Amino acid sequence: MERFQNYIKEVIDWNDHIKTFLNSENIDRNDDIWEKLDQLTNVIEGISKPAELNQEQLLNLQQQVDHLHDDLESYFTKRQQIGTVYINEPFVNIGEHKLPPLPYSYDALEPYISREIMRLHHTKHHQSYVDGLNKAEKNLKEARTKGDFSLVKHWSRELAFHGSGHYLHTVFWDIMKPKGGGKPSGALLQEINKYFGSFDAFKKHFTEAAKAVEGVGWALLVWSPRARHLEILQSERHMLLTQWDTIPILVLDVWEHAYYLQYKNDRAEYVNNWWNIVNWRAVEERFDKASQLKWKPF
Ligand SMILES: [Fe+2]
Repeated sequence: MERFQNYIKEVIDWNDHIKTFLNSENIDRNDDIWEKLDQLTNVIEGISKPAELNQEQLLNLQQQVDHLHDDLESYFTKRQQIGTVYINEPFVNIGEHKLPPLPYSYDALEPYISREIMRLHHTKHHQSYVDGLNKAEKNLKEARTKGDFSLVKHWSRELAFHGSGHYLHTVFWDIMKPKGGGKPSGALLQEINKYFGSFDAFKKHFTEAAKAVEGVGWALLVWSPRARHLEILQSERHMLLTQWDTIPILVLDVWEHAYYLQYKNDRAEYVNNWWNIVNWRAVEERFDKASQLKWKPF
């Protein structure tokens, strides 16, 4: 009987674990998966006194749980095969983007990036991209409402500049952390080795690309769902020279506002030091999600 009680406890834990996961991914309550989990909950709740269940009833329970387990497994396999991202977050309404909070304090990246730079970069520069993106979205909505597209070129440029600025900075904050550095591991490292030959070869290429960005811009490691491999890109400003249909995995801001107060015009030293604060776990997570997206290759 103890074996069955342990089994029931495992099923309860497993059920809770799946529900926590679905909640964390904001899976819609109307999705079939919830119905299956609710069925499982009902089965479990029906066993208030497992000691009173006979062997046949327990076997019956086990069968029901096994079926649900199979259903759940095929559900997740199917979602992964079609590259579905498990996110049903409410979308951002037009003109309602917000400045995301930094995942650490302003002085957390010292001595590599000073508190003063981080504070200005986040509260002034990034905020201005959020504001600019909201303004562009609202003005383009107004253009659609009025059927007046005389300024569509201007607002489209604003949308690209501020939108790219907002999205890239949001990634940038997430891919850094205090006491970062080192190397990635797992699938990302394998992919880096496969495409660039070695981590050192990748690091050299990325560093040189960052140093050589003309004017202001970014160096980016991206996943290409089409080519199904990684690539290193430069971006001038936030949005020029991009290779569309790729997903940034690791990004480095080489605008002067990102380093000038501390490094003056020595971008190379800033770039070299930046490697000490890369949050490879976050980069790996982005890669794991991005690499699930695969288009037909051409
Ligand atoms: Fe920036």
